[in-house]
Amino acid sequence: MSKVITGNPGVGKHTVAKQIAKNLKLGLIDINNVAIENGIFVRGKETLDVDAKALQKILDKKITNHSLIVGHLAPYVIPRNKVNMVIVLRKNPYKLIPVYKKRKYSKQKTIENLGSEILGITFYDALKKFGPSKIHQIDTSLSSVSKVVKRIEMFFEKGKFQEDQVDWLGLISKKGDLKRFFPY
Ligand SMILES: Nc1ncnc2c1ncn2[C@@H]1O[C@H](COP(=O)(O)OP(=O)(O)O)[C@@H](O)[C@H]1O
Ligand SMILES: [Mg+2]
Repeated sequence: MSKVITGNPGVGKHTVAKQIAKNLKLGLIDINNVAIENGIFVRGKETLDVDAKALQKILDKKITNHSLIVGHLAPYVIPRNKVNMVIVLRKNPYKLIPVYKKRKYSKQKTIENLGSEILGITFYDALKKFGPSKIHQIDTSLSSVSKVVKRIEMFFEKGKFQEDQVDWLGLISKKGDLKRFFPY
């Protein structure tokens, strides 16, 4: 069975996945790259729309028992029966803002992605797709890259996991920032 690292853009997926694949000798499958290599992205002004069915078909053939699959699209394109362990990375929205600034995301794209992280859309969709017994979330804003890598490796290798509590909606409400993050 293969393993998955997912989460909204900017939470740290690729940074940790590369290291984990190397350390545990897993074959890294980057969903975005597979989509681009196979020409199944439709380029919009600022977005890449994907044909989820076509992508799932291609990924299904690529995935082995030693795959580590990474990408925010995982809940929509990975067949559930091929996966036994899923990590959803989360990041404090206040710490996501500088990541999106650096990536030069537009206001619209920034607000959409922050909203998605605050509401936990990817987490919820992963939960629906893969089921609660396979899935754990890690708050990457609390610790270093190496600590996050170690925790994920511990889970993948030994099945051990200490749960993180994530409540971004509670956090931004307490700070009086609901309107800032949800302006429309
Ligand atoms: N555990 C971590 N702690 C702090 N910063 C991190 C952590 N993991 C990644 N980052 C930083 O967050 C940013 C986004 O990481 P990246 O791997 O590109 O995210 P993603 O692949 O989810 O879009 C990078 O600047 C990276 O250095
Ligand atoms: Mg990435």
